[in-house]
Amino acid sequence: MKDFSREEIDYVLDTAEKLEPVARGEERSKLLDGKIIALLFFEPSTRTRLSFEAAVQRLGGKILNLGSVEASSVMKGENLADTIRVISNYADLIVLRHPLDGSARMAAEFAGVPIINGGDGSVNHPTQTFLDLYTIRRESHLEGLKIALAGDLKYGRTVHSLCYALSLYGAEMTFVSPPELRMPLEIVRDLQKRGLSIKETDSLEKTIGDVEVLYMTRVQRERFPDPEEYEKVKNRLKVTGDLLRSADPNLKILHPLPRVNEISPEVDSTQYASYFEQAFYGIPTRMALLALAIGVIE
Ligand code: NCD
Repeated sequence: MKDFSREEIDYVLDTAEKLEPVARGEERSKLLDGKIIALLFFEPSTRTRLSFEAAVQRLGGKILNLGSVEASSVMKGENLADTIRVISNYADLIVLRHPLDGSARMAAEFAGVPIINGGDGSVNHPTQTFLDLYTIRRESHLEGLKIALAGDLKYGRTVHSLCYALSLYGAEMTFVSPPELRMPLEIVRDLQKRGLSIKETDSLEKTIGDVEVLYMTRVQRERFPDPEEYEKVKNRLKVTGDLLRSADPNLKILHPLPRVNEISPEVDSTQYASYFEQAFYGIPTRMALLALAIGVIE
């Protein structure tokens, strides 16, 4: 996300808005007619993979799916660079999710086609950020937004990408996490250099009344070197009906999903819950990113 200017982000969001009727199946499009998009997912995924698939299909393109890593030559010891070089010759664009930090950037150096980063380790998840911003623009507002990013701020790649983008809109950010899962210092410093004042706390109770958006995240169990550390922090923060009694009536709660225990189900039917709409917005935003990266719209 650090590579994008505010103008570029707005342009992607505007493009996504134009494509929304196609994403809903109300209008038809052939923007990706004749194009092949390869999906290389080396980590589990439901929404990112399926919303990319839906986006490609709605735009009339075709999917090439690596499928399970166990069934591919990766199991024979093929390195990522070789896999990428080869798939570049089979597809017009590659969407990559990989557990290694920096894998997408590295892949882009070997690829002859555009790479879209579908999540690299705990570092970046830019397409999620685009759909998060789209949701915020739709359900609340971006300029000067008062937002709390809560949960696993240490290992969560969604929040790492999102806070850079939000900084371009002058957001007032509060980071809410257990002390063990604080936002990496390097990111906090970067944001301060961009002129933002960041608040940090471990209490949702003290924060909930002061924000317009609460962006909740899952504790990233798979990234903990020590399972006992995960056990200690896994249920520290939770959004419940009780907590929401002190919320602003216009508060919107977002979550990239999957959730584990951090939002109790009773919240789903309240006016605050925006996380299922948010998951839908992955389709128009990914359509826009695909069409712009392939160059079928300018
Ligand atoms: C996120 C991810 O993969 O980082 N999921 C997603 O893409 N919607 C968040 C998570 O796994 O917690």
